[in-house]
Amino acid sequence: MRPGERALRAQLAFFRDFIRNQAEQGDPYANVLGVPENPYPHYEEVRARGRLYRSSIGSWVTADHKLANEILRDRRLGVRKANGEKLPEIMSFDNSLLGADPPDHTRLRRVMTPTLNPRMAGGWRPRVKEICSRLIDDILAEDKPFNLMTAFAQQLPVAVIADLVGIPERCRADFFHISRRITPLLEGVVTYEQTQSTEAAIKEMTDLFVDIIALRKADPQDDMISRLVPLVDEGTLSMDELVPMVTFVPLAGSETTVNLVGNGILALLAHPEQWQLLVERPELAAGVAEETLRYDPPVQQYRRIAHERIELAGHTLPVDGELAIMVGGANRDPQVFPDPGTFDITRDIGADTLAFSAGIHYCMGASLAKLEAEVAFEALTARIPRLRRAGPIRRSGSFIIRGMREFPVAAR
Ligand code: HEM
Repeated sequence: MRPGERALRAQLAFFRDFIRNQAEQGDPYANVLGVPENPYPHYEEVRARGRLYRSSIGSWVTADHKLANEILRDRRLGVRKANGEKLPEIMSFDNSLLGADPPDHTRLRRVMTPTLNPRMAGGWRPRVKEICSRLIDDILAEDKPFNLMTAFAQQLPVAVIADLVGIPERCRADFFHISRRITPLLEGVVTYEQTQSTEAAIKEMTDLFVDIIALRKADPQDDMISRLVPLVDEGTLSMDELVPMVTFVPLAGSETTVNLVGNGILALLAHPEQWQLLVERPELAAGVAEETLRYDPPVQQYRRIAHERIELAGHTLPVDGELAIMVGGANRDPQVFPDPGTFDITRDIGADTLAFSAGIHYCMGASLAKLEAEVAFEALTARIPRLRRAGPIRRSGSFIIRGMREFPVAAR
């Protein structure tokens, strides 16, 4: 047994038992952490307990849209502890944007913005169309039932992100395999074996990106890494910051977009009249992306830490008090969205969904992700108008990322 293994195993087992126990006693947040097939009734229970409630797990929890929005924009809260210490669960992202508080976050985000912003997203449309078209050609050529996740939804964002970030063709298979091993990190409650495999994968990913950065330095192209490398030479950015920053982008942009496409198609097939409406009116594809982000968002919750003692919705949070924001619940808050449990691709959502967060950590890839999903929905309904379910789905087992591993479908 490795040093510390016994203690870590015991700690993880204790945590799992504790959560199970609290869930059995009816705590809705503990129930969410247990990754139920359908978390939405538990979010309703969270909201029924007030705008903010203290879970028996220790965190303060909200599914209230207005409060969630305020919390995400509140500068008295951050993503690290008040003394700047990182949380153990975000170990791989400690130097990425998502794991940084101001002033580091402000500087890193400014550096990244020219390489990833809403303006550049539109330019990707022809390339995204081409990738979707090629993937559907392959699916139709096979002429048999297929797993929508592996045959289509996973392929699209990985191809786009690899081009955007500048992952050379010959490193892409490695990148894909390693990132699959990192995703359990997003699942929160993990086993000892998963922590070991994830740690090893993070190290391999870092090594891979160190190599890619060296390649791009020697032979710059029109991509994110090539544009950021000169900043290291100028002294604006350190190598210790560049590596996690560029490693994080493909992870942030693929696991999420994959599930926006998957969850959207699942909702459309569960509501055949909505599928038919899209077949007849392909211009509604952007609306499908927006409604899926509201109705079944790929990222279901965010966490924030109080950097000072604060009063919030009748509660007093101490320094380092932890807030869990149930986005899946906030996006179904009836105060903001009438008839929130109905999937309606013609709904006028405006800027109200919190699926990409809000405030300083607002997703930098939101426009690109929406474009990818829009083109995907348009292409699938146009070329496979009789798409149908062909077997039971298997979910990915995370309370943060909601999506599927297996989604069997048939083209006719
Ligand atoms: C449907 C797809 C996507 C969803 C649902 C999503 C969601 C999110 C959310 C919720 C956050 C902030 C989390 C928090 O506040 O704690 C975030 C941050 C981020 N996302 Fe996305 N994302 C998606 C796609 C992408 C894509 C395609 C990219 C890159 C090309 C990307 C890059 C980023 C980056 C760099 C951040 C960090 C921003 C910061 O901390 O300042 N995301 N995303």
